[in-house]
Amino acid sequence: MKNLGIIGQRGMVGSVLMGRMKEENDFAKFKSFFFSTSQKGQTAPVVENGHNILMDAYSIEELTEMDIIISCQGGDYTKKIHTPLRESGWKGYWIDAASTLRMSDDAVIILDPVNAGSIQQALNNGGKDFVGGNCTVSLMLLALGGLFKEGVVEWMSSMTYQAASGAGAKNMIELIDQMNYTTTAYNHLKTDHPSFSAIDMERKLTSLFTEATYPQANFGAPLNLNLLPWIDSEVESGQSREEWKAQVEANKILKTSSIIPIDGTCVRVGALRCHSQAFTIKLNKTVDIQTIEQMIGTHNDWVKFIPNNKEASMRDLTPAAVTGKLDIPIGRVRKMTIGDQYLNAFSVGDQLLWGAAEPLRRMLHFIS
Ligand code: HSE
Repeated sequence: MKNLGIIGQRGMVGSVLMGRMKEENDFAKFKSFFFSTSQKGQTAPVVENGHNILMDAYSIEELTEMDIIISCQGGDYTKKIHTPLRESGWKGYWIDAASTLRMSDDAVIILDPVNAGSIQQALNNGGKDFVGGNCTVSLMLLALGGLFKEGVVEWMSSMTYQAASGAGAKNMIELIDQMNYTTTAYNHLKTDHPSFSAIDMERKLTSLFTEATYPQANFGAPLNLNLLPWIDSEVESGQSREEWKAQVEANKILKTSSIIPIDGTCVRVGALRCHSQAFTIKLNKTVDIQTIEQMIGTHNDWVKFIPNNKEASMRDLTPAAVTGKLDIPIGRVRKMTIGDQYLNAFSVGDQLLWGAAEPLRRMLHFIS
């Protein structure tokens, strides 16, 4: 039985990973050790075949005892530990949720319903670093994998609507605090000014955004009753880093021989969980809509084709419908009025499941 080290199990991705590993009985196949950056020596989570004490996440000596390490601890931890660990001669498998190593030549971005072949090939060639993709990229490729597999995509634009939790646990709570702040003010206003019109209310509630006590330390702006058209840092092209990732990561996962251009605007919205994306896809040839629907809907076990009508879209194609599920619904699929080779589509996926934890736990089955 291989030694499996897990780091960052208390964070959002880590706790979703733990939940999925328990559901799928993954712990039965490993001797598991939990590592902590701040609580070494304390009691570890109880899992089948699990060591009962938390190990030291900064101890190269303890980490080198592992055959496999899964890190959900974040990019700073990877930056600090991965190189010294490899330099110590450790030859184990490093499976990571953070982006630090994604574009490294030695790392494979793991999304096995799309690139199981590349993963297996890397393993056969002695590859040891396996990194989960950016959440929106993984969710996009699961939704549109059929079109890429059939080679019909010339270029694509993806406009995202990303949930607050994608920015981290503190940010998600901050959104709820912002909602609470607003609701408290609204209740007072309703009592004190029963004759306020909707516009009066809008003026008063949006003026709260500039109050010194309005909670916005994490987002740096109000997200509630608002949206934020920038995610992550700036890169030279004028894109946000989140936007930059779409093309580079998708093409790396797909191992394209010539780059398929992908670009768009990534936007933070007030959903709590699940990222949505609106796609404009330029096809490289005319393909009839039934064939397109079939290509999309049969690509993998999780993609769910939603008919392009209002009732099904409102019911099945929202963050609220998808939260906590592995399903990848894709709908609003239609030819655009701008031309026969332009396709419209919209998809939603749980960014903590297929967008983060699920590819990591599935990687274990390639190496257990
Ligand atoms: N980069 C993503 C975001 C994290 O900011 O939403 C994945 O959920």
